Amino acid sequence: MKSLFYLNKYLIKYKWRLLLGSVFIIASNLFGVYMPELVREATDQIMGYAKTSDQNKGDNNITNLALYLAGIYVLLSFMKGVFLFFTRQTIIIMSRLIEYDLKNEIYNKYQSLDLSFYKKNKTGDIMNRISEDVSRVRMYLGPAIMYTINLVVLFVMVITVMLRINVELTLYVLVPLPIMSFLVYKVSSVINRKSEEVQKSQSRLSSFVQEKISGIRVLKAYNRSKHFVDEFEEETYNYQIANLSLAKTNAFFMPVIILLIGLSTIITIYIGGLKAIDGTITSGIIVQFILYVNMLTWPFASVGWVTSLVQRAAASQTRLNEFLELDSKIVSAENPITEIKGDIEFNNVSFKYPASGILALDHVSFIIPEGKTVGITGKTGCGKSTIANLLCRLYDVTEGEILINGINIKSYSLAALRTAFGYVPQEVFLFSDSVANNISFGLKKSTVEEDLVFQAAKDADVYDNIVAFENGFETQIGEKGVTLSGGQKQRLSIARAIIKSPDYMIFDDCLSAVDTQTEEEILSNLSKIMDGKTAVLIGHRISTLIEADIIMLFDNGKLVEQGSHEELIKNGAFYSELYLKQLVEGVNN
Ligand SMILES: Nc1ncnc2c1ncn2[C@@H]1O[C@H](COP(=O)(O)OP(=O)(O)OP(=O)(O)O)[C@@H](O)[C@H]1O
Ligand SMILES: [Mg+2]
Repeated sequence: MKSLFYLNKYLIKYKWRLLLGSVFIIASNLFGVYMPELVREATDQIMGYAKTSDQNKGDNNITNLALYLAGIYVLLSFMKGVFLFFTRQTIIIMSRLIEYDLKNEIYNKYQSLDLSFYKKNKTGDIMNRISEDVSRVRMYLGPAIMYTINLVVLFVMVITVMLRINVELTLYVLVPLPIMSFLVYKVSSVINRKSEEVQKSQSRLSSFVQEKISGIRVLKAYNRSKHFVDEFEEETYNYQIANLSLAKTNAFFMPVIILLIGLSTIITIYIGGLKAIDGTITSGIIVQFILYVNMLTWPFASVGWVTSLVQRAAASQTRLNEFLELDSKIVSAENPITEIKGDIEFNNVSFKYPASGILALDHVSFIIPEGKTVGITGKTGCGKSTIANLLCRLYDVTEGEILINGINIKSYSLAALRTAFGYVPQEVFLFSDSVANNISFGLKKSTVEEDLVFQAAKDADVYDNIVAFENGFETQIGEKGVTLSGGQKQRLSIARAIIKSPDYMIFDDCLSAVDTQTEEEILSNLSKIMDGKTAVLIGHRISTLIEADIIMLFDNGKLVEQGSHEELIKNGAFYSELYLKQLVEGVNN
């Protein structure tokens, strides 16, 4: 329950709506409580009229009275309805506003958290928090709060009126109501538990379909369709079982309520009847009490329902708080340096991935001189991409330090750092957007000059491909648009990095999917762009790096050799072996 206190700041933010909503609840109930009084009045008058001997005389009077009471009754109903409308317009709307705020707060948090958070949490789980959990919390903020205020107000009003009329009858009538609250609570808890099972089953079902559709090519190529049709049938069967079980429990809900109202009504008629025969109360009071019992039914039933809503909301809010209270460890220092220039130095850097515990870099020291191009190569898994991750501060080093211009990288502004670096990641990711927007992605301007986009595309050697598409640079990429080839994607990703004309560039294995001729073309374009800028070129093929000022060879997280191509060949160690091997393979190809 404590977890829900987190939301108090929002309740305070919207306090006027909440307060106004409460006033509307009181107003609507005032009209509601008065209605049964009218009915009693009418009943008693008619009963009195039925007893009089001279009925002809009273005919006109009683008709007028009936019309008068009916008129007031309609008016009261109307007023009650108007205020009910306003109640929902204030309190339910307040809950929607808070839902909006909360979703934005969560999304902002998602954006600020570092990569290790995304490694630890599944995408489905992260998505669920912003959708499912927030909507459960909203049920607390809206309906739960509204029904609770309503119950208290109505209860106080109705009970006051009932007690004033007859204390004993009131007590008898009220006995079944708490039992109803309890039973409804029990049934709602079971319903909630079962809906959760249905939810889970549904999300398993959708993940299943989603994955199998994403992997449809592999699935068809391996002729596994039949197998997954069977598996899907099993999943839908589980879903069906969960739903049927929920439907069964749901079916109990109304009967429980009806049974207990029935009980209250019978008690009212029996005890009230005895008293009416005694002459302690009028028969109109019996009718009035029955109406009150009916009025109290839903609020009392809602106690049980609201309790389980609040429990669910509390569980959801606990999950939300878990990461709303998380702080990203990768942040700008206080008074950060915003000007980024100078040599980059790795000083005895070690890095262990928090998720896997793998030591990806092991006491590595080297310098990337300003304005030079450094090539990094080595076997797969030797830690090349890790260096790129550390340079962009997607992770922070575990041991040692990275210096830029002799100052620790953590002292710089994170935003300035990421603006200064143009990074082409190894795994290309393009957004479902136009080609042009994908290229200009990193520019903060809303409108980008076409020429800039065109030039970047030309430098990345993808311009000709793009203009060959029917819609050119406006072509949509992704699910609903064209699917690009692996090499085209890589080149778009390069264009996205170079359009920023950053001072530092990192190309992580970004030419692996292009043929050697295209590679040469891109490299010669890049060498013009990289002229005077600092660049890190990561690659498996030595041909990619051969022109670099310094080449570093890594093995198993350690730097084993560095120097220019000529120097390393002269050394006659690992690098020259690797080079010869690749030459031979190249000849054989
Ligand atoms: N996000 C991650 N979480 C946990 N471990 C990781 C992560 N990324 C990489 N690793 C591990 O760290 C080691 C170094 O990985 P890295 O990606 O730096 O290799 P690489 O040299 O870029 O390899 P490749 O040439 O295949 O791209 C590997 O053993 C890998 O399993
Ligand atoms: Mg890599």
